[in-house]
Amino acid sequence: MGVKLTGSPWGCSSPLSSSLCEDVLTFGENMSSISNSPFDKFTHVSCNEPVSVKPEGRQSTIRFFNDLSKVESYIKAAEGYDGAELVSILKKNLSPNATILELGIGPGKDMDLLIKEGFSVTGSDVSQPFLDLYRKRNQKADLLLIDAVNINTGRKFDCIYSNKVMIHLSKEELRESLKSQYKNLNSNGVLAHSLWYGDKEEKWDGAQFFYYNEDTLSDLTKGMFEVVHLTRYKEMEKDDSMFAILRKI
Ligand SMILES: C[S@@+](CC[C@H](N)C(=O)[O-])C[C@H]1O[C@@H](n2cnc3c(N)ncnc32)[C@H](O)[C@@H]1O
Repeated sequence: MGVKLTGSPWGCSSPLSSSLCEDVLTFGENMSSISNSPFDKFTHVSCNEPVSVKPEGRQSTIRFFNDLSKVESYIKAAEGYDGAELVSILKKNLSPNATILELGIGPGKDMDLLIKEGFSVTGSDVSQPFLDLYRKRNQKADLLLIDAVNINTGRKFDCIYSNKVMIHLSKEELRESLKSQYKNLNSNGVLAHSLWYGDKEEKWDGAQFFYYNEDTLSDLTKGMFEVVHLTRYKEMEKDDSMFAILRKI
């Protein structure tokens, strides 16, 4: 999920800018609608052209998500939203007792859903404030502070999942992350990631955002993963998002 904070990057040249008041998110033709979108709670702002992302972007993104006031605003904006449709697709591609590492749990809505489905879930984020807030409402949760570019859990999972988290990594960073994810996956394990669809980058208030498409994904995963499911879906505008499930080769 991508959340629009007041004056956020989603209001720049992003396809999200023009439909912030939508309250139904449709996930492709064969997917049901998601209601209670957080996006209608966001304030639309006029923005200029997207700002080019500089190499120091990731550290700046990490600082953004370690700012408690920004994290609290994000959680408020995301109230009422969850990634239920993505989780229902994932379920069809995993055994019921699979182990899952979620990268970038944020407010933890998807982690809650995955746990509710009976999966054995380890939540992670590069943001300590997000982890601390999740811990407060789930004392028993298995949580790790992880930068998705360099994952060293010392464990292997059946699945590594994220919802609009890889969008914070540049192409080079995503390549490193995928290599790292490969090492933390069991043989025959799967990746499940949602991304903004496209071929551009944006930056707002220090946080960087990248759009990806099938070609880039295929290039980045070549020799490591094969695509088992790929859906374009609407989060804010038709086909603005992509959900990919990839199996380790
Ligand atoms: C769209 S939110 C995820 C929302 C989450 N899926 C949920 O269920 O609410 C994006 C998350 O990515 C995290 N993030 C950004 N860069 C990251 C990185 N390099 N490594 C790990 N997490 C990162 C942020 O801290 C934030 O929690």
